[in-house]
Order: sequence, then structure tokens, then C-alpha cells
Amino acid sequence: MHISREIAPQIFWVGGNDRRLALFENMFPLPNGVCYNSYLIIDDKVTLMDTVDSAITRQFIENLLHLLNGRAVDYLVINHMEPDHCAYIEDLIRHFPGIKLVGNAKTFNMIRQFYDFDIETRLHEVKEGDTLCIGRHTLRFIFAPMVHWPEVMVSYEQSTGILFAADAFGTFGALSGGLYADEYDFEGHFLDEARRYYTNIVGRYGAQVQLLFKKLSGTDIKMICPLHGPVWRKDIGYFIEKYDRWSRYEPEKKGVVIAYASMYGNTANAADAVAGRLAEKGVQDMRVYDISKTHPSYIISDAFKYSHLVLAAPTYNAGLYFGMESLLREMAVLNLRGRKTAIIGNGSWAPAAHTEMEKLLGGMKQMELIAPPFVIKSTLKPSQTDELYALADAVAASVLDQAVL
Ligand SMILES: Cc1cc2nc3c(=O)[nH]c(=O)nc-3n(C[C@H](O)[C@H](O)[C@H](O)COP(=O)(O)O)c2cc1C
Ligand SMILES: [Fe+2]
Ligand SMILES: [Fe+2]
Repeated sequence: MHISREIAPQIFWVGGNDRRLALFENMFPLPNGVCYNSYLIIDDKVTLMDTVDSAITRQFIENLLHLLNGRAVDYLVINHMEPDHCAYIEDLIRHFPGIKLVGNAKTFNMIRQFYDFDIETRLHEVKEGDTLCIGRHTLRFIFAPMVHWPEVMVSYEQSTGILFAADAFGTFGALSGGLYADEYDFEGHFLDEARRYYTNIVGRYGAQVQLLFKKLSGTDIKMICPLHGPVWRKDIGYFIEKYDRWSRYEPEKKGVVIAYASMYGNTANAADAVAGRLAEKGVQDMRVYDISKTHPSYIISDAFKYSHLVLAAPTYNAGLYFGMESLLREMAVLNLRGRKTAIIGNGSWAPAAHTEMEKLLGGMKQMELIAPPFVIKSTLKPSQTDELYALADAVAASVLDQAVL
């Protein structure tokens, strides 16, 4: 049965949910599934805004055929050429041989790279700011390069004020009935997954997200239709503010992420000792993670959320424990910056973890070490208590300082 929904007169959501997929991009856990959105505008020219992942094409075509009621699709607007939104293009052409593909020069190169079917006679190329009138509705195209991929653009429908936003403003998590963000307790239901989606998938491209915001300033956006997750029709400013903050790499909250690695439990013990001391000093918002257990996407998401980051890891083969090295490299690639940090290293004969962590943090922008690196030789000794507490107290004082944030 179709599950399509009308979002404005003659504009419909025709997406679907995948609650089976374990890993998005074969990398990111999806405990709550994921939703792929596509939108259909039925006008003089029937226009489809993006398609969906191959996993849900059966649902998608059912939605589509129900609404088309025998008509054909005239235009497919391709805001983003990533396969989770384009898997169905070839079949769509088979269904609707007269369909025109609307995209930019980069979109079409991507199609040629991914697929072998003949597209040359079907292209409708648009440039930045171009419009496409499809009847009562007119789409304006705004390029958003690297707001995930280089070919990305967003489409603004001028009569309704709907922004078809590609991956921008998307979230992980399948829909639980509601199509609109305001049908959920968004903070409880979606916000953490929205942050994990943004920071891990688009996090590197904060500057490009900021550029898109600049291009859109002055545009009266009444509804945001992303390619993943719920549609925004109320309190749009709330979510724009979140995206603005994340893309400026500014923390949302004062608080501490303590991420540790440990083989025998000694570094874990130090992490717990620091966490306990921070709590005693009045720090309330804290997350302690064993990096070998928790998927890095969750730790990265919280590192974007909070103001402070404490890293603790053992030395491994004259270097840094691999999991911690990889976590820090991921943070660097995602351009995380401007956090206040502290480091705890461990080693039994030639501790090197702390210097490696310091180096990796040093390669990231505006990372401030607020206490000297603390070194454990195998296990924490009572004689080190004062020094460890001094590190914790420096972190606590910085978190509790009203001037931060
Ligand atoms: C495979 C392996 C390689 C290690 N390499 C080093 C090393 O190069 N230098 C060093 O000082 N300690 C090295 N260690 C020792 C650990 O870093 C050390 O025992 C540390 O205290 C472990 O902390 P944990 O109890 O939190 O696991 C190594 C341990 C293992 C298992
Ligand atoms: Fe994407
Ligand atoms: Fe996507």
C-alpha cells in the first residue's frame, strides 16, 4: 500500500523507511533505522525531487504510481547524486522514457561515472540561480557544493517557500509515523541522531554549510524538506540554529566527554577517577566512553556537542593505542576544533601515548590543552593522586567558568 503524504497542495512526500540496515554507508550504526525522502510535485510538468535508496524502491514506486494515477514523471530534479538517493534513476527512465534529468554539470558527470545508461538526450542542465517553471510552481536552484558532495544543490519552490535541502537538515532515524519534526518530541526522539548524522557525514564541511546559509539569507523558507528524517514546518529556526552552531564547530553545552582506551583496566581506572572528581567539583554534564566499545560516531557527535574533551590511552608498540589514534584522526578529518582538552597517557616501559595524543590534537585548530599531560606507568599510584586531581580540577574550573560558551 502507498504511504505517501501531502505536504502542500499538489506536493507529496513519497519516501520510505529502512529499519533493517545495520550500518549507514557500511560504517555508521543505525539503531533506529533511517528514512529516505523523495517528494513529488504534481503540476503541468510532474516533477520528482530526488529518489531513494535501493532498499526501499518497492515502497517508493508504490507511492509514486498511486499519486501519478496514470500520468508520467516529466522531470527528475537531482539535488544530490549519492547512491542512497539515486539508486532508482535507471528504473525510473525505463518507467518514464520521456523523463528529463535536472541537475548541474557536476551532477551529470557523476551519473556518467556511476551508470552506463544513455543520459545525453535527457539532460536539463541548470546553473546557480536558474529557475524551472513547472506550472503553478517554480523551482530555483542554489548550489551547495560539499554540503556533502561537490554536485549538491538545493531547490527552493517559490510559491510555497519549500526548500528541498538535499542532505542538509537530515537525520538518522526512521520515521515513527509522524512526517513533521513538530509531531515528535524532537529533542528526545531525534536530536542526538541528527547531530550524529551531521557531525559524522557533513561535519568536515562546516565552511560550506555556512556559505549555503549566506546564500539563503533573505530567502523566506516556510518548510524544509531534507532527504533524511522529518520535514520542518514549525520552529525552523530552532534546527537552523543547531546546524549553524555545528557548522561553526561551537559546542552546544558546557560539559566533558571523557574518551578512554584500556587493555587491562588501568587507564579506565584513571578515567573513572577523573570523572568522579569532576562530579564532586560540580560538573554535571559528562559522558565517559570506552572507545573500543562505543562506535566512534557517537563519541564524535558528543565531542561536537560538549565544550571539553579528556582523552586517555595506553601506549601500544611505541605509539598510541590504535583505536584512539583512529578516533583522533577522524576528529581531525571532520575539522573538529576549539575544544578545551586534557590528556592521560599510560605505558609500562616507554610511555608514548600522551605525546602522540598531544601531537594529533596539535594538528587540529584551536585545541587548547588546559593541564599538562598526565602519565601513568602501568597503574595509578596513591602518590599521583594530587597530580591527577590537579588535572581534573583544571578541567572542572574551566567547565564551571561562566566565561566559557
Ligand atoms: C601489544 C602491546 C604493546 C605495548 N607497547 C608498549 C610500548 O611500546 N611502550 C610502553 O610503554 N608500553 C607498551 N605496552 C604496555 C601498556 O601500554 C601498559 O601496560 C599500560 O599500562 C596498559 O594500560 P591499561 O591497563 O589501561 O590497558 C604495550 C602493551 C601491549 C599489549
Ligand atoms: Fe549524501
Ligand atoms: Fe543521504
